[in-house]
Formats: sequence, C-alpha cells, structure tokens
Amino acid sequence: MKQEIKPATGRLGVLVVGVGGAVATTMITGTLASRKGLAKPIGSITQLATMRMQNNQEKLIKEVVPLASLNDIVFGGWDIFPDNAYEAAKYAEVLKREDLEGVKDELQAISPMAAAFDHNWAKRLNGTHIKKATTRWEMVEQLRQDIRDFKVANKCDRVVVLWAASTEIYIPLSDEHQSLAALEKAMKENNTEVVSPSMCYAYAAIAEDAPFVMGAPNLCVDIPAMWEFAKKMQVPIAGKDFKSGQTLMKTVLAPMFKTRMLGVSGWFSTNILGNRDGEVLDDPDNFKTKEVSKLSVLDTIFEPEKFPDLYGDVYHKVRINYYPPRKDNKEAWDNIDIFGWMGYPMEIKVNFLCRDSILAAPIALDLVLFCDLASRAGMCGIQTWLSFFCKSPMHDFDHLPEHDLFEQWRMVKQTLRGMVGEKEPDYLA
Ligand SMILES: NC(=O)c1ccc[n+]([C@@H]2O[C@H](COP(=O)([O-])OP(=O)(O)OC[C@H]3O[C@@H](n4cnc5c(N)ncnc54)[C@H](O)[C@@H]3O)[C@@H](O)[C@H]2O)c1
Repeated sequence: MKQEIKPATGRLGVLVVGVGGAVATTMITGTLASRKGLAKPIGSITQLATMRMQNNQEKLIKEVVPLASLNDIVFGGWDIFPDNAYEAAKYAEVLKREDLEGVKDELQAISPMAAAFDHNWAKRLNGTHIKKATTRWEMVEQLRQDIRDFKVANKCDRVVVLWAASTEIYIPLSDEHQSLAALEKAMKENNTEVVSPSMCYAYAAIAEDAPFVMGAPNLCVDIPAMWEFAKKMQVPIAGKDFKSGQTLMKTVLAPMFKTRMLGVSGWFSTNILGNRDGEVLDDPDNFKTKEVSKLSVLDTIFEPEKFPDLYGDVYHKVRINYYPPRKDNKEAWDNIDIFGWMGYPMEIKVNFLCRDSILAAPIALDLVLFCDLASRAGMCGIQTWLSFFCKSPMHDFDHLPEHDLFEQWRMVKQTLRGMVGEKEPDYLA
C-alpha cells in the first residue's frame, strides 16, 4: 500500500560522529565534489542505481522515491580532535590532495564540535577535544543542545546522525539495557561501565527526532532500551557496521555455495590494515566487537541445522592485523575450503586489495539518505530493509538477521516499491 511521504524540502543536516575520520572525510569530500560536478558518486545506490517498475520500465531509485538532494545537505559533527575536515582529510591520506583542493573551502568550514568520549571505551585514542560532563545524562543533554544549535545555525529542516567514529570495546547485554527506564536510570547514575558514549549519541539523536545510523559494530542501538525509545519517539534507527569489503565478498560467495548445494568445511579470513581504525582494532577489547560482527554472517546464510552434511562443521576464523605501511588500503585474504560431489575437497582463494574508506563512503551516504526518507515516510524503529548496507544487520530478539546480499537487495527494492504503491514487475507479461 502506498505510504504518505513528506517531500524532501529544505536542508538536511548530516551530523557525523567521528567527522574527522577517514570514512567521514571521504564521504563528505565525495559528496561535496559530486554536487560541484568534480567527481562521480560511484558505489552509491541512491545516486546511481536503478530498479524495474511494475510496467517493466527501469527507473533511477532517486526518481522512484523523494530522496534529499545532495545540494541540500549540510555537514557537521563531533570529533575528539579539533581539526577541520580539510586538515582531517589530509591526515587520513585516503584522497589525493588535488581531490581535496576542489572543495577545500567547504571542508575547512566544517569544524567538529567537542566529542562525548570516554577513554575506557577506546584506549588507543588520546583526543583533547572532549566534552566535560559529570554524568552520562549530562553528556546526552550537551549532545542534544549541539543538535538543536546546529539545526538553527544552519537552517536545517531535518537532521540525521551518523556514527562513523571508532569502534568501542565489546560489552555484553546487561539489565540496564533491557528497558528505556533502566537505561535512563543508568545514565543518571553515571554507570559508565554499561552506558557507552555511543549510546549517548544515539539517545540524543532519537530524542531530537533525528534518525540514527550506526556504522561501526558497536552494540549501542542493539538493545531493547533503544528499540523502545525509537518506537516511542517515532524515529528510524539503522546499522550496524558498514558492509564494505571482505564481508561484502563473503555474503555474495556464501549464497552461491548454498544455492549450488556445495559444502564448506572452513573459511579463514585475514586482513592487514594501517589506518587509525586498524590501530583502535589492535586492542583486543575493541577487536572483539568487530570479530563478533564479522563472524555473524555465515550461520544464517548456511543454515547448518537444515543442511548438516554441507555446513554442520564450518571452521570460521577472522583476523585483523594492524600494519601501518598500508594505511587505508586494506588487503584482505580469504581461504575457503569447500567440497563437492561425493565430498571431494576444493579451495578458493580471494585476495581483495581494497580501499576501505572508498568502499564505505557511499554506504554511509546511502544509509543517511534512506534513513531520512524512512523518517519522512513515517517509518520508525529498526530499519531491517537497510540490512543490505550492513555487516551485522540490526534485528530484535524475535527475528534473525538477513545476510544474503541478494535477499537484502530484494528487501530494499520491495520496501521502496511499497512506499510508492508499486508491485514487482511481471516478467511473463
Ligand atoms: N572503512 C570501512 O570500510 C569500514 C567498514 C565498516 C565499519 N567501519 C567503521 O567505521 C568507523 C570509522 O572508520 P574510519 O576508518 O573512518 O576510522 P578513523 O579512525 O579514521 O575515524 C574515526 C574517527 O572517530 C573519532 N572518534 C572516536 N571516538 C569518538 C567519539 N566518542 N566521539 C566523536 N569522535 C570520535 C576519531 O577521533 C576519528 O577521527 C570505525 O568504527 C570502523 O570500524 C569502517
């Protein structure tokens, strides 16, 4: 059934947590350059992808649904370092200097607001541009004020908050996460063991009617308290962990094995990575969060309980090694041990020499634009249809995540069709 979607009029504020990071500055530079005609938004579904309509005609997605125009975006955000986006992009060394120069003035105008940060949640980081707050609740109050001030100063109609900051340490679900009342109590009592800084950003965004996107594997919106709050405030939340490189390959290859009924006995994935993200993930507590996210993908695709002969005993291992010389140019290796007819073994090797932030930037932009669309379409809570963009798609306790990239793509198109009252094309007509 067709949904009423408010038009994308006015300006859209995009507040990025970790606005000085590699992904953030790459996304911002590419967006600014695209709207000046200096670059093409390669890899972005919202800008380039098409879909087939009921009458078999192909249309650009941005012509099917009313997405915010790149020209209407105003960027801002928070970081623990005070450098403006131009300085930060130079530090990240993802993009060439000549690509930064074209939008230098716009980048220089983006100065981060002081961050909500706690060193215990990311021990490898030592920033100075940090809020002084005596409790987590006060942290939230300050972030809410930041969002309100940004909105007024930049004459924004709407704001989306995107977490593209470092991965926090792994924490298990605790009683304080089970309900909104319990979480708010923990924030007021300043329980810093269970309330992460990222939870403060998410809470502040939802409280200010801003959709929240979690681009890292942090569990901050994976808790019943946040689901409850997002529903109560009618705000969309999405995540988590941009599906950019190795996991993207995994969620394409695994459905292929499954579709062809080929067995898998082992999957060893390793990476070398030399940017700040790699440095943070070098700490075992922070790596644990990433490891859980990266390991989660195979089980729901293979369904070992249904196909024990094929996938009952898959040895799955994921490693990330910090190796500074490579900077943002991650190299990922996968060794996959598969078996076929009568159990005969075979091996597949994948060696992906990728650019981490080049792959993640369009995903971040798409998640922002689709969450803004969802908000205008009156959708709230977990945006399952955006699983396509995520390594570890959010889901509640009653549902399993969907990891298969092709199923995820179907979900995107089905949701967009549903928004505008379209059905799948009839290929027999
Ligand atoms: N690049 C990819 O392909 C990819 C894929 C999936 C997920 N991610 C995740 O995206 C995030 C960003 O990656 P990156 O390569 O840009 O890392 P980065 O280290 O370059 O950037 C992170 C930024 O966050 C800032 N920061 C840390 N804690 C903060 C806080 N509490 N408040 C505000 N700012 C804070 C840091 O100062 C830094 O500028 C990481 O969590 C990473 O794991 C990246």
